[in-house]
Amino acid sequence: MSRKPKVLLTEPVFREVHELLEKYFELHVGKRGQFNHANTLRDAISRYDGLLCMLSNPVNSTVLSNASILKVVANYAVGYNNIDLAACRSHNIRVANTPDVLTETTADGTVALLLSTVKRITESERFLREGCFDGWSPTAFLGLELNGATAGIIGMGRIGQAVAKRLRAFGMKIIYSNPNRLPESVENELQARWFEDPIQLASRADVISLHCPLNTRTHHLVDSDFLDAMQPGAYLINASRGPVVDELALAKALHEKRIAGAGIDVYEFEPEVNELLLTAPNAVLIPHITSATKPTRLKMGMLAAGAIAKTLCGADYPCNFIA
Ligand code: DGY
Repeated sequence: MSRKPKVLLTEPVFREVHELLEKYFELHVGKRGQFNHANTLRDAISRYDGLLCMLSNPVNSTVLSNASILKVVANYAVGYNNIDLAACRSHNIRVANTPDVLTETTADGTVALLLSTVKRITESERFLREGCFDGWSPTAFLGLELNGATAGIIGMGRIGQAVAKRLRAFGMKIIYSNPNRLPESVENELQARWFEDPIQLASRADVISLHCPLNTRTHHLVDSDFLDAMQPGAYLINASRGPVVDELALAKALHEKRIAGAGIDVYEFEPEVNELLLTAPNAVLIPHITSATKPTRLKMGMLAAGAIAKTLCGADYPCNFIA
């Protein structure tokens, strides 16, 4: 009798995802945070045919050096910068991620973060809770007027476009930067103007929202030069990946009021947050939650688990392979 394939799910998720995996596999579920270091994952991986990992689990050549029977890695995320795709390919390991199902809710979350930041919601809430509210004032907590302002979107993929659609409804003008220009029909629909170079966009936008993947081209794309190019009254929103922004340079720019504010969902050394950033009053800081709704997170889990079932058992589930 052939053995049941073994799958490692690096931390507990939704019951439905566990049930799908248990139907086909001998499932081992790790503890939250247990596999956040490559060495721990390397030591465990030799026993598994499939891996369902979080974006905090590095799947690199150290891990793969011990992956003697591993055939598939499914990432519980659309972004896959934690996975060395080339190394997976060279070991004949398939890789899957979870696009599409989180586009709309991530766009909602980004716009919520953007509004909190430019309308100074958390800053003014702190003021009220500290007992400082002394009545309405014509000059208190002035924010950005979105109608007629310019949104600069860096990374105009699925999520960037969904954010742009929402911001159009607030009367914003859209400019964007992407390695490749969008088809004319999409540009027309979003009334969006393309800049090849992100720094050209930086000086023209009132709010910049980052939606690019993290790779060698985008690492520290927002550095001190980029921040200096931004208008002093402009805001930065990051719901992509932390290392796209040089976090220390951003913290300094916020304290020195070289930009008006920032809304940040993702961090350079997640889950650590730069001390200087934590003390910047003009920063809204949230813990990587822009895609956090139960339906979305469940769909992500089912897509990832489906990719493992498809690879190891030929079962027919929706899934998306990137290698
Ligand atoms: C992703 O999927 O890449 C997000 O960062 C988490 O929703």
